Amino acid sequence: MNGERYAQITGWGMAVPERVLTNADLTKVVDTTDEWIVSRTGIQQRHVVASEKESTMTLATRAARRALRVADLAPIQLGLVIVATATPEYSFPSTASLVQDALGATNAGAFDLSAGCSGFIYALSVASDIIRSGDAEHVLVIGAETLTRITDWTDRNTCVLFGDGAGAVVVSAWDERCGVQASVLGSDGSGGDVLILPAGGSHAPTSHETVSSGGHFIKMNGREVFRFATTIIPKATEAVVEKAGWQLADLALVIPHQANIRIIESTAKRLRLPLDKFFVNLERYGNTSSASIPIALCEVIDGGRVKAGDKLVLVGFGAGLTWAAAAIEWGVPTPVKPQPWPRRWLASLRFALATIRSTVRRAERRVYNWAMGPVGKEDWRGRLRQRVDRWRGRGYT
Ligand code: ACO
Repeated sequence: MNGERYAQITGWGMAVPERVLTNADLTKVVDTTDEWIVSRTGIQQRHVVASEKESTMTLATRAARRALRVADLAPIQLGLVIVATATPEYSFPSTASLVQDALGATNAGAFDLSAGCSGFIYALSVASDIIRSGDAEHVLVIGAETLTRITDWTDRNTCVLFGDGAGAVVVSAWDERCGVQASVLGSDGSGGDVLILPAGGSHAPTSHETVSSGGHFIKMNGREVFRFATTIIPKATEAVVEKAGWQLADLALVIPHQANIRIIESTAKRLRLPLDKFFVNLERYGNTSSASIPIALCEVIDGGRVKAGDKLVLVGFGAGLTWAAAAIEWGVPTPVKPQPWPRRWLASLRFALATIRSTVRRAERRVYNWAMGPVGKEDWRGRLRQRVDRWRGRGYT
């Protein structure tokens, strides 16, 4: 202990939709083969949302609840919720605010972070700095995506690549030197058009034309992204290792963005590291964008591939174009002991109460607005509303 604060990952969880789409399934939709997809990308299957009940927010909430259980933390102890996503629930409100409400994290601020597939590491870096500055004790960082909702299922160049899912970590203040030791964030917006969702923003608002021309689907120049990734991933890895004061040989494991096995193989070669130092699970999930690294991290931890003292690098690239890397010294003993049933029960009770609280608050808003009439109206309902507002400290009058 040296009086400094560190930012340690104390909880983790992941969630993927149940429905699995295999390469064989895709051959019925577009002109492709299992052989092409496996040899060019390494992907064998992906999980995809299958009903309106599944969305970025529901996946994020499931992953977050698991992370909070592992951290043995009540949602009210969170100071901030960050959701990194390229496929938010809405443009606004933020997905993070919806997750904050679903969890009952009533003391937390919340915002979404947009940095393509690098988003989770960007969010982890922000969380680490906020914790180290003393502004929060616990921050929930989530990477969550439903990329298949913006996938053009007639475009074989992109539809074979993506999957849906979410991964979450709780980052907590720690007084021993471990956790996030360094991060590197980068961007080159001149490559913005290489990987883009062209319509639906202020540049090309939704219209009949944007819909009929397919502007609301991912457009990608795969070769350009590939070239960018194979250059930037080794560079970002080296930069973060140097910033942490480590050597490449010190690394127990690299957890790269899971986009394409050939990008990972090329990185291993350029860094002269054995391929088994790189965690790979893209064959089962495809590219889940900002969810890919936290999902991989969960599988690394739960699979017993990390122990206290291990040095890890998380490294990603994505739309922007952006890149990011984080150096983490693992500090939590693994595997985590299963919690005794009263604590598990208490956590379930908290989440059930959060759902009830959210439902009651939504209902209360509706009843209030219906019963009290329009703002500013000077009849008896308007006067009653003014009184209730004054009594409750609301600022309408
Ligand atoms: N099935 C069969 N053939 C295909 C398919 C397919 N699914 N897709 C493309 N092809 C064809 C092409 O039409 C092309 O044929 P042509 O030579 O007759 O024109 C041929 O295969 C080769 O195409 P390339 O684009 O050169 O294939 P490449 O080897 O580059 O692989 C890929 C394409 C997999 C997209 C690769 O470029 C890649 O992985 N790029 C990086 C993509 C990536 O990581 N994107 C995510 C970024 S992160 C984010 O923010 C979401």
